Amino acid sequence: MAEFLGGWKRDLHCGEVSEAMVGNEIILMGWVQRARNMGGVIFIWLRDITGIVQLVFNADELDKEMFSLGESLRSEFVVAVKGKVALRADSAINAQLKTGRIEVLVKDAKILNTAETPPIYIEDGAKDNEAIRLKYRYLDLRKPSMQKIMLDRSRVINTIRSNMISQGFAEFETPILTKSTPEGARDFLVPSRIHTGEFYALPQSPQIYKQLLMLAGMDRYFQIARCFRDEDSRADRQPEFTQLDLEMSFVEPKDVQTVVENAFSAVFKEVKDTDINLPLPRMTWKDAMDKYGSDKPDTRFDMQISTLDGVVRDSGFSVFDHALEQGNIVCAITAKSAASQLSRKEIDALSEYAKTYHVKGLAWLALGDDGTVRSSFAKFFSEDKLNELLTFMKVEPGDALFLIADKKLVALNAMGQLRSKLGRDLGLIDKSKYNLLWITEFPLLEWNEEHQRYQAAHHPFTMPMEEDFLLMQEHPELTRAQSYDLVLNGIEMGSGSIRIHASDLQEKMFGLLGFSHDEAWDRFGFLLEAFKYGTPPHGGFAFGIDRLMMMLTNSESLRDVIAFPKAQNAACFMMETPSAVNEEALKMLHLKLDT
Ligand code: AMO
Ligand code: AMP
Repeated sequence: MAEFLGGWKRDLHCGEVSEAMVGNEIILMGWVQRARNMGGVIFIWLRDITGIVQLVFNADELDKEMFSLGESLRSEFVVAVKGKVALRADSAINAQLKTGRIEVLVKDAKILNTAETPPIYIEDGAKDNEAIRLKYRYLDLRKPSMQKIMLDRSRVINTIRSNMISQGFAEFETPILTKSTPEGARDFLVPSRIHTGEFYALPQSPQIYKQLLMLAGMDRYFQIARCFRDEDSRADRQPEFTQLDLEMSFVEPKDVQTVVENAFSAVFKEVKDTDINLPLPRMTWKDAMDKYGSDKPDTRFDMQISTLDGVVRDSGFSVFDHALEQGNIVCAITAKSAASQLSRKEIDALSEYAKTYHVKGLAWLALGDDGTVRSSFAKFFSEDKLNELLTFMKVEPGDALFLIADKKLVALNAMGQLRSKLGRDLGLIDKSKYNLLWITEFPLLEWNEEHQRYQAAHHPFTMPMEEDFLLMQEHPELTRAQSYDLVLNGIEMGSGSIRIHASDLQEKMFGLLGFSHDEAWDRFGFLLEAFKYGTPPHGGFAFGIDRLMMMLTNSESLRDVIAFPKAQNAACFMMETPSAVNEEALKMLHLKLDT
């Protein structure tokens, strides 16, 4: 039978009991982590969010009823105890526990609630499968490691808030029931009861609202904003997630970046006690693609990509010769000291890996410590040509060389993926590093093969670079944008841009994206109209707080840093959402299911 508190007040948390309190009588409350009955003495580990403390029920000190209450305690029972803090005997000190030098000799206790045997182990390192952990998430969250992540998350959000306010920003909320915002994912739709056949969209981000707040003269906006995107979940994607979203008026990219750098460095100081060197390094998108084959390069290890021309031209190897004739590229990386670590089987596996990124093959060469060459292509090269290539790529005995010939971005992307894999497989990554950098000057547009039209690389409100204005009409694909991403250890943390603030330029941009005048006005008329009334130059940024938490806590998945995440299939196993609704609810919304 569950008891009530009955006037008992908790004096302190379990993890706070210390040697300084020896002799004091205190009241503690928490969950039974484990119970050990040694006959006349029962040891109970009492747990709460601050830690664990040992309770002792001693048959010699307690009446029968109280001792048998001690005997009845099981894992996860909720109890309140009154007891005296005592030093443990030297032989009983537990160095693993913060409170391991003391214990609490119980005088009185209440069982506030009993518990059935939990379906998962409530201790760190337990190996329950993820589906069951997600179903019983409230039990999973009782684990000290999960509680620490959630508390760190609260500290991060608190630090961001106070940092943004100290930088002159004000927090504004924006609607959740809104209209589609074009961030590139599918919208979640909410049917309207009042407006038959019409739908709200959940915001993919507060993008348009924050721009309208700049129009409203609010000057510096931020929000810890919930965003919703109906896209397939991945380790670093959730259908709903949280951004630090910000927007500023009268600024250029550097101004926005400085604000973001300050917020990041405050977070790293608070959570990691690490000083970040500011300003952060910057790399253009073009350099990032050329050297790392990625717009989110992991710079914790070097192994840069080279694009080859003369050294492979007229080599006699048809794959390379054809590629260069067709205007494609040949790119290469040298993996230091990798030759002896890579068996033929492993090299073939790397080749298959590269092919999953849409290239036709991977040419390779391994130079033995004794100078012997193993290679897929060396036989086609003359000795001089091969030496020229090895010298150019600084291949020394013991090193391996990989080459890919294909269309430029396809080849670079595949090589970038291979580089990352080799970095991981060969143990080249210094895991203690937090390499933050800005990637700037992204292309404004990218070509969508499926729909045979351009789409915005960032979003349709992004301002082109001024020096590229004239390119927009004739070479849209070469136009660079005033946009920037913040990258941490090979993961995109956030994106931002300076926005278009003139309605004619915005309309032109919609035109490039394939919207007719009428379509543009139909979808974004409110924005084009608003732009007519004195819009300040403005720009902003948003970064994923979940992704940041994942990095700060070395978690494998976003699911580990969100209290109630969705599983891989976008479902919540705990609440069993999504779920069917009854006929009546559908009728109210004038909806019929076509199933
Ligand atoms: P963007 O779409 O690049 O930009 O998103 C910004 C950051 O949000 C995080 N993020 C996600 N995190 C978890 N799950 C997801 N599905 C997910 N999608 C995005 C990433 C990403 O870098 N409105 C613009 C910003 C701006 O221009 O100001 C925007 O939302 O960390
Ligand atoms: P083949 O002449 O098809 O036997 O290919 C010889 C080598 O070239 C093999 O190791 C292939 O994987 C490699 N190769 C084929 N196509 C490409 C390509 N596009 N880029 C790099 N290497 C390639």
